[in-house]
Amino acid sequence: MPSSARRLRRLTATAAATALAAAGLAAAGTAAAPPAAALDNGLARTPPMGYNDWNALGCGSSFNESTMKQIADIIVDKGLAADGYRYVNLDDCWAETQRNADGKLVPDPNRFPDGISGMADYVHAKGLKLGIYTSAGTHTCNPNGFPGALGHEQSDADQFASWGVDYLKYDNCNNQGVDAVQRYTAMRDALAATGRPIVYSLCEWGQNKPWLWAKDVGNLWRTTGDISDNWASMLSRFESNVQLAQYAGPGHWNDPDMLEVGNGGMTDTEYRSHFSLWSIMASPLLIGTDLRKASQATLDILGNKDVIAVDQDRLGRQGTVLKDGTADGSWVIVKPMADGSRAVALFNSSSTPRSIGTSAAAAGLPARGGYTLRDLWQHKDYSTAGAVRATVPAHGTVMYRVSADPHWASHPPAVAGGTTGSPLVPVGGTGPLGFTATDLGRTPAREVRVSATVSASGWALKPNGPTAAKELTTGQALGTHWTLTPAPGGTSGDTATVTWTLSYRAPDGTPVSSSLDEAVQLVQPPPSGDSYVSDLPFVSATNDWGPVERDTSNGEAAAGDGHTITVDGTKFTKGLGTNAPSDVQIYTGGRCTRLTAQVGVDDEVTQGGSVTFEVHADGAKVYDSGLRLLHQPPVAVSADVTGAQVVDLVVTDGGDGPDYDHADWGDAVVHCE
Ligand code: GLA
Repeated sequence: MPSSARRLRRLTATAAATALAAAGLAAAGTAAAPPAAALDNGLARTPPMGYNDWNALGCGSSFNESTMKQIADIIVDKGLAADGYRYVNLDDCWAETQRNADGKLVPDPNRFPDGISGMADYVHAKGLKLGIYTSAGTHTCNPNGFPGALGHEQSDADQFASWGVDYLKYDNCNNQGVDAVQRYTAMRDALAATGRPIVYSLCEWGQNKPWLWAKDVGNLWRTTGDISDNWASMLSRFESNVQLAQYAGPGHWNDPDMLEVGNGGMTDTEYRSHFSLWSIMASPLLIGTDLRKASQATLDILGNKDVIAVDQDRLGRQGTVLKDGTADGSWVIVKPMADGSRAVALFNSSSTPRSIGTSAAAAGLPARGGYTLRDLWQHKDYSTAGAVRATVPAHGTVMYRVSADPHWASHPPAVAGGTTGSPLVPVGGTGPLGFTATDLGRTPAREVRVSATVSASGWALKPNGPTAAKELTTGQALGTHWTLTPAPGGTSGDTATVTWTLSYRAPDGTPVSSSLDEAVQLVQPPPSGDSYVSDLPFVSATNDWGPVERDTSNGEAAAGDGHTITVDGTKFTKGLGTNAPSDVQIYTGGRCTRLTAQVGVDDEVTQGGSVTFEVHADGAKVYDSGLRLLHQPPVAVSADVTGAQVVDLVVTDGGDGPDYDHADWGDAVVHCE
């Protein structure tokens, strides 16, 4: 599974470093000359789409011929093949651990009784293609020790071709410190020599900046370490990969790793963001869930034709950042499309709803009186006078295709509905909530109405004024105000969902309605005096590997798998154990003045570990530790949080990905009046 693969990678990296040092060589890839010949295999003119078993099945016993055949069946039967999903890729663990007497690879007869050629025949008969996996090292990444192709490139490539393989994922484990360009180029040439068209996927985790050299080597290259099925992991892979737009194009793509959609570690809202972001980044779309168990919601996400069309657009441009949301969570990504339109993703990486917007002009469209705005998750067309704006739920993405289209007036005007007021309601109090509707169209919106319901029993929601307007013209807004009263006897941490519904009519009478869920939460400020943060409820907590731990370090997987917090020999019995990137938010309700802690990388990691610790008060950074490395002594944090409603304890990955980033907030205490 991903975490064990990563632990192994640590060993691998150590072994490789030792081998390099012994040989007196520079780090892999650093001194490489550019590859001599071009890849030129004519494949992957749009990002590859298909299936890979690893994220769902790993090396478990259910990874076998029968499962993979069932998955191939489902890909065809559920219409995913028709949507473009074509490659059925076998990841690690398909082989016997030993080559045969002739040095040839042997498929595991228990898992694949008909061999890889039998598997290839099966998927080919269904109109699909087969992919396989090995490593540019002596062994693959799995600790069972499956053979890798280093030094066997031509023989292994010949076997793959003879079996009917159409795609190779070539990993980086056990690489013996041999230069990366040399290793990956050797397999490119071996594949070319087979004469069979084989899509070539480099998987060296971005370690040697493959975007700078792999255009002539492979059809795609991983830009990051392994994804895992959680929000922080997905977000950090997006944040790295989105910066690399200039290197992608037909035949050569950035690969931020396979999809986790459907695996259960994120909400459907988060999976829709994952799918939207991968598509606007022109990433390979490799389904990574067990399709035999996939819900209809999962199939609907994976089968969204409007979003797939963005990924698969033949112009082949990766979307670029129009607004960077690293600081405030509001991202705008724009992708030019072959027909001249623009795909626009309004992505909210923060944990509260955000109004996010841009304009048709900023997205690169010519000046026009109006534009067509297609909502790619609602599958509906609207018109806009130019504004492209929406209130995006926490961790959500609104995705549009915006066209300078002469028929814009035939669509209803877009009316942006947005929440105002705080979703955090103090225990014993009431919450002022609000919802504003703004006409973005060139034409008027008529009979505009806002209504709202609250899901949890005993809670009440009442308007404090008008909730309807006869007509809104371009740019005009209807602001509505409401009082939310929680159920009596509620305690801190109780939650409810407010559903806002906006309805109106287009000038020709066509009714339009949409709804937006807002999560609300009961909160209580800490008592006066000092409180350990680890004893307080969290408003939200995100973490790259496993959950944030209270009073232990972070063990990367299940809750409670950490150890005593230890930074350069100093032990702490209280504190938070995180793995960067991480964000823990607490409610301070304007009653607290200072946050203190002793921070650093936990001694339990064997190498690496580079993070920065930040404290944010109501979204503004009030403390930054600078880069902290393994075996540096704890640093004393003292952050002024006077008057803040919420305080965030943030750890970034130091810009080099999340591996080994066990970041501790020893003795984290908040002082309140
Ligand atoms: C590495 C790769 C993963 C997966 C595993 C298999 O970790 O990056 O995508 O292929 O190996 O062991």
